[in-house]
Amino acid sequence: MKTVILYASVHHSNTKKVVEAMREELSADLMDLMEEPMPDVSGYDIVGLASGSYFGKMHQRIQDFAVKGGLRSGQRAFLVCTCGMRYKDHTASVKRILRKRDIGVANTFQCRGYDTYGVFGKIGGIAKGRPDRRDLERAREFAKRLNVL
Ligand SMILES: Cc1cc2nc3c(=O)[nH]c(=O)nc-3n(C[C@H](O)[C@H](O)[C@H](O)COP(=O)(O)O)c2cc1C
Repeated sequence: MKTVILYASVHHSNTKKVVEAMREELSADLMDLMEEPMPDVSGYDIVGLASGSYFGKMHQRIQDFAVKGGLRSGQRAFLVCTCGMRYKDHTASVKRILRKRDIGVANTFQCRGYDTYGVFGKIGGIAKGRPDRRDLERAREFAKRLNVL
């Protein structure tokens, strides 16, 4: 299965660390949506979309790609999100967009990521050191399972 992971990781590169761990298991290509917002993914079977959570949703570049990017209904997607607080599913809005476009979401990975936004910065941030070794191990396990789906 040919796999690509598109990511937007702008706060502390938390999501980038996670997708790099996944790449080792999947032999996936990685593409930075901050450098190239609408890459051609027509040659891939599985497309991962990954970012931090910004105001409860995945990064705008991910949302834009989900709406306008060249995903086909035959392709499968998976979602990866890091967040300061794991109180909700931060990928829900992207899932809705993909569902409307008839793109199947194989699975979702979410973990905490170091967060110094706003008031949290004044207290030294939350989720310090995350993603940590265990998060990255979970990310690799998640990627292994994707490989056999
Ligand atoms: C502008 C901004 C808004 C954020 N909003 C949320 C939020 O609503 N919920 C949350 O749990 N984390 C929030 N965070 C924390 C990030 O989701 C978290 O630090 C994430 O790991 C960042 O990923 P990145 O380093 O890959 O960009 C926010 C961070 C920033 C900079």
